[in-house]
Amino acid sequence: MIGVGPGGPRQITLEAVDALGRLDAVVLLDKGESTASMRRLRTEMLERYAPDCDVLVVADPPRDRHPSDYATEVRRWHAARVDAIAEAIAALPEQPGRDRVVGFLVWGDPSLYDSTLRVVDALAARPDWSVHLSVIPGVTSASALTAAHGITANRIGEPVHITTGRRLPSTPEAVAGNQIVMLDGAEAFRAAARPGDEIYWGANLGTDDEVVISGPVEQVADEISAAREECKRRAGWVMDIYLLRSPDVVEGT
Ligand SMILES: C[S@@+](CC[C@H](N)C(=O)[O-])C[C@H]1O[C@@H](n2cnc3c(N)ncnc32)[C@H](O)[C@@H]1O
Repeated sequence: MIGVGPGGPRQITLEAVDALGRLDAVVLLDKGESTASMRRLRTEMLERYAPDCDVLVVADPPRDRHPSDYATEVRRWHAARVDAIAEAIAALPEQPGRDRVVGFLVWGDPSLYDSTLRVVDALAARPDWSVHLSVIPGVTSASALTAAHGITANRIGEPVHITTGRRLPSTPEAVAGNQIVMLDGAEAFRAAARPGDEIYWGANLGTDDEVVISGPVEQVADEISAAREECKRRAGWVMDIYLLRSPDVVEGT
C-alpha cells in the first residue's frame, strides 16, 4: 500500500518511488467520470515510476450515498469492492519461484479516511490467500494544508481534532479549538462555525490548480464557495480541506 500524496506529482516520497519500481501490478479503482482527472494524475505517476507494471483497473461497485443505515451500506459496498479486486488479482499470471507484488495507490496517507487498508485486510483474511502487507506513508492533505498556509495545526499545547464535514456538527466542545475537516462537499463550516472562528481552507493542494483562502468564516465563506466552483470548472474536480480555529485560547502546557 503506497501513499502517493494529495495529488501533486512532486509530493510523492522517495520511499514510495522505490516501492512503485518493485511492483508487478497495481490496482486502480475506477470511481467514474467525476474523478477521471485524479485517475489521470495517478496514471502519470505510474508511467513515470512503474512503467512496466500491469495496471488492473477495477470498476468501483455502485453505492447508495444516502442510505438509511450508513454503516451497513458502507460494509456492503466494501465487501463488493473486495470481491472485484480479488477477482482481478487472481487473474494475474503466476511469477515462478516468487510472490507477486501488487500495489494499491492511496491518495494522501493511508491512515486518514481511506478504506484501502480494510480492503487489503479483507483480502489477507481469505482462506486461500497469503498476503504480506507493507504500508508506505504518504504526505496527507492535512499536512499539505498547514504547509500551504504556513501554520501549525495546533496552538501551544492544544489538541487537534480531525473530522469530516458530516461529523463536524457533533465535535465535542473540548476539542473544537482546532479542527481539521476533510470530506466536506456541503460547506458544513457555514453552520458549524461560531462567531469569530477563523478558517484556513485549501483546494486541490499540491497541484497546479491549488487555491488557499484564510480569514474569519463570516468574511470568507462566499469567497470559498466561488473558489470551489472555479476549481471544478478549471480542473474538473475539487478536493478541499480546512482547519477551523476558534479564537478561544485553551489552557495548555
Ligand atoms: C477520502 S479522503 C482521503 C484523505 C487522504 N488519505 C489524505 O491523507 O489526504 C479525501 C479527502 O481528503 C482531502 N484531500 C485529499 N486530497 C486533497 C487535495 N489535494 N487538496 C485538498 N484536500 C484534499 C479532502 O478533504 C477530500 O475530501
